[in-house]
Amino acid sequence: MDTSLAPAEAYLGVLGMTGLTAYAGLTEIAGVQEGDVVFVSGAAGAVGSVAGQIARQLGASRVVGSAGGPEKKRRLLEEFGFDAAIDYREGDLEGQLAEAAPKGIDVYFDNVGGDHLRAAIGAMRRNGRIAICGMISQYNATEPVPGPDNLALTIGKRLTLRGFLVGDHGHLAPEYAERAAGWISEGRLRYDQTVVQGIDNAVGAFLDMMRGANTGKMLVRLTS
Ligand SMILES: NC(=O)c1ccc[n+]([C@@H]2O[C@H](COP(=O)([O-])OP(=O)(O)OC[C@H]3O[C@@H](n4cnc5c(N)ncnc54)[C@H](OP(=O)(O)O)[C@@H]3O)[C@@H](O)[C@H]2O)c1
Repeated sequence: MDTSLAPAEAYLGVLGMTGLTAYAGLTEIAGVQEGDVVFVSGAAGAVGSVAGQIARQLGASRVVGSAGGPEKKRRLLEEFGFDAAIDYREGDLEGQLAEAAPKGIDVYFDNVGGDHLRAAIGAMRRNGRIAICGMISQYNATEPVPGPDNLALTIGKRLTLRGFLVGDHGHLAPEYAERAAGWISEGRLRYDQTVVQGIDNAVGAFLDMMRGANTGKMLVRLTS
């Protein structure tokens, strides 16, 4: 680890698996191209906050993020450089997305699934690509979760939906490390982390992450 570039814990987040997930999803899965309009859900979280900024570096013309609550919405705009932000807890996801991306979206980076996936399919432009990274809205569901009811739109819009696991994209790690190091040192890739102290608080930290108490990567520091 080069700790002159970033503190060691950054290698657990933006410079580690988290950042590589965002990079692989945007490059190999969604194939972000110059001029694309990109929508990212879970955008104030570890993967999402990095994904939005990488989309910009890859040439996206507009980057829209969704997160829970006014403070996270503010941070998307002011700290992570999103062009527009949605507070999904305010409701009317479709309406907010239409306002944030009036011409529709080309790429959706999905961390949430459910209502967000439905809204994104509705807003996709022709030949749009959806990288399915996660579906956190349903991980704790106790009943089977209904799928988006608008999948038929994928036909006329010629959409591609593709799930992926970062573990299959390890070959990108050296390329990503080099590019991310450059972006960080030039101030074009910012990262945040929420650090909880002590192994005894690890379970609480995990549950808080599921509830959205974190911005950026949720970490547990084992020693004081
Ligand atoms: N495919 C892969 O290889 C891979 C690798 C790593 C992670 N992932 C996936 O990527 C996603 C993000 O992971 P992460 O580690 O970066 O976590 P994270 O985004 O840092 O933390 C989870 C966030 O999910 C949001 N959330 C929780 N319940 C939600 C709901 N019902 N609707 C909308 N948002 C909700 C919360 O933010 P709000 O306050 O905004 O609600 C919370 O902060 C997860 O789905 C994870 O499983 C996939």
